[in-house]
Amino acid sequence: MDRIAIIGGAQLNGTIPVSGAKNSAIKLMAASLLTDEPLRLTNMPRLADTRFLGKLLTRLGVQVTESDGPDGQQTLLHAPEITSGFAPYDLVRQMRASFNVLGPLVARSGQAKVSLPGGCTIGARPVDLHLQAIEALGAKIDLHEGYVYAQAPRGLKGAEIRFPFVSVGATEHAMLAAVLADGVSVIHNAACEPELVDLQECLNAMGAKVEGAGTPTVTITGVPRLHGATHAVIPDRIEMGTYAVAAAMAGGEVRLSNARPGLIDALLDKLKEAGAGVEETADGCIIRRNGQRLSAVDIETAPFPGFATDLQAQFMALMTTAKGESRIRETIFENRFMHAPELMRLGADISVSGGEARVRGVERLEGAEVMATDLRASVSLVIAGLVARGETTVSRIYHLDRGFERLEEKLGACGAQVRRIKGDGEAEL
Ligand code: UD1
Repeated sequence: MDRIAIIGGAQLNGTIPVSGAKNSAIKLMAASLLTDEPLRLTNMPRLADTRFLGKLLTRLGVQVTESDGPDGQQTLLHAPEITSGFAPYDLVRQMRASFNVLGPLVARSGQAKVSLPGGCTIGARPVDLHLQAIEALGAKIDLHEGYVYAQAPRGLKGAEIRFPFVSVGATEHAMLAAVLADGVSVIHNAACEPELVDLQECLNAMGAKVEGAGTPTVTITGVPRLHGATHAVIPDRIEMGTYAVAAAMAGGEVRLSNARPGLIDALLDKLKEAGAGVEETADGCIIRRNGQRLSAVDIETAPFPGFATDLQAQFMALMTTAKGESRIRETIFENRFMHAPELMRLGADISVSGGEARVRGVERLEGAEVMATDLRASVSLVIAGLVARGETTVSRIYHLDRGFERLEEKLGACGAQVRRIKGDGEAEL
């Protein structure tokens, strides 16, 4: 299994282009099931997660073609017909978001059998709200032996969907299913993340009638059919935030390009408060730190536009060497502090109690062998490794490969000493 090795101490200087958002791309790919015409997605990241979903979609009848076009990396998805409504456990368990094929399958072909996603390292993560939405739209849902059987032989019907709390995945799933329903659907207490706006724009380019994404109320007027379209995936705000934190950690000056302002304001405010230099630009931001130690600041994760839970681990890594004590509260997921013991192996002083971690900044971290436990946790270890004395090696980096495109290359281009060690122990620069 591959590992990443980092020799700490180098400042970061240069430009990092932000890739298309993983979390958006995988929902947009699922939208290809809704039409018999081709959907062309540009600004596509090439990641393990997009490959997993490509594999599943191919099994369902979608022709998936990746290429480098005039607009950069693109994926063409074409489902002339749905050849199977069956999403097996071995494909769905690899990536929870695969579950989001259920709604489009029922919407287009009236039936689906999709595995429940199963356990996940960051908490229980049930799919009850997803099922509530598909059921509200008129599908008959049965659960047997780990599978969801959904049927709507006469099509889905527009409905009022009221979520008891905010869920990104369930909101997206409800949108994906309701676009082909007969009549109007209204989603109340919808998630407001930018990826929802991206999904709305893509669906509307395909002929859907969706309004209100990015606000708590989304209205979908069903149409009988959708057509093909070309859509550019929104920039990855989590990748952008991760490199912003990396720059603040290592010091130097890094420009993040190919992004959009306004995607990570909650993080940028905290970086400023901690003492980093932050300048917003038309297509991203510039992060600077020249020598001075950062100060500890507190964060609490919240739905957008609050502080993203997907940036919590990275911020915790940053706080390990800040001056003072930082309190980090996780409110979205239970059990999302698995990076804390790994950071402690590098010399961090952290105590965790329930949903809160206290991080007392230390003067310096020491390189060590650590293990990635989930996607965002793994990158927090790389960030810590950027300043740890000596070498840090991070194992189980398949987690990292799920969501970060060419991480070693992007950090390396700014001067970081990061290399991938192939499974057989041979270093690949
Ligand atoms: C998405 C993101 C993930 C991010 C999260 C929160 C993708 C692929 N993943 O995950 O990176 O961390 O949003 O911003 O886009 N819940 C239920 N029942 C449900 C659905 C969710 O109880 O049916 C709970 C979850 O366990 C969690 C909370 O709701 O505690 C929020 O989860 P949700 O917003 O659905 O996250 P995901 O869509 O899974």
